[in-house]
Amino acid sequence: MKHLLNAKDLTKAEVLRLLDTAEAMAATQDRQVKKLPVLRGKTVVNLFFEDSTRTRISFEAAAKRLSADVINFSAKGSSVSKGESLKDTAQTLDAMGIDGVVIRHSASGAPHRLAATDWIDVPVLNAGDGTHQHPTQALLDAFTMRRHLMGERDGSPAADGTDLSGNHIVIVGDVLHSRVARSNVELLKTLGAKVTLVAPPTLLPVGVEAWGAEVSYDLDAAIDAQPDAVMMLRVQRERMSAAGGGFFPSPLEYHRVYGLDKVRMDRLPEHAIIMHPGPMNRGLEISSDAADSPRATILEQVANGVSIRMATLYLLLAGDNTEEPIA
Ligand code: CP
Repeated sequence: MKHLLNAKDLTKAEVLRLLDTAEAMAATQDRQVKKLPVLRGKTVVNLFFEDSTRTRISFEAAAKRLSADVINFSAKGSSVSKGESLKDTAQTLDAMGIDGVVIRHSASGAPHRLAATDWIDVPVLNAGDGTHQHPTQALLDAFTMRRHLMGERDGSPAADGTDLSGNHIVIVGDVLHSRVARSNVELLKTLGAKVTLVAPPTLLPVGVEAWGAEVSYDLDAAIDAQPDAVMMLRVQRERMSAAGGGFFPSPLEYHRVYGLDKVRMDRLPEHAIIMHPGPMNRGLEISSDAADSPRATILEQVANGVSIRMATLYLLLAGDNTEEPIA
């Protein structure tokens, strides 16, 4: 694995190695080991052409906890606003001497382009590209599910090496614009989980039937099926405006038909968890009752994101040293 571009590219063995390595990273943090020396002398660039809170900060925290130096690049305030191309930006960074690039871009495929060219010759980690992919989000979601659901199932904490077989995950909302949904479906399938996508027809992409998940327009029926986790997706109003469209159905109607509120939450099985990748539209796809309930794993997902990003940076950038114990 030279780059991390696409959840679909990962074999089951690679996913389990990433999840197990993230568990080892989390264990070092639990033991108050502030910094691991494994990426000392390496420089990671966070190349963000699109806004982010969680992903950018957690990649930065992850790299620093591995002792790497971090350069944060934001398109806003850079020469991108003067028309500089992705190629010239990448080559400029390469000339400064870097060891890895984390890239978020509004254009689907931008990280793949970076990885496919000779503009730079270092690992490329996709931090979200357009409506296409967000592989580290899918990994941190799987990590969170494995911790809760596999422990729940056999009464013990999630053991290294376990997948998500036997679990049913319902993903609800704006699938059309969601790189999180696509990446999650691909990774969850690799881990053996059953996935149901629930959305209004207007927020489902053409060809969604080929994703390998069940598709439903009925959230109440999906809840009646007693899933193990419900993942609410952010309604991406900014992408709807950019496409020249309005929000349909109306926000009020959307919340009534597709929002997760207390009534729906209380109908879920006791062990079921509520997930959201963030940022949330409270009162639209999720009510505050649900978002702030003890069964919501939203902040846990954020914390697990640091462990997952430590694991991905370590496995991609540490080269031959990854067979040695972490700490
Ligand atoms: N989940 C996620 O990607 O959040 P940010 O946009 O804040 O990084």
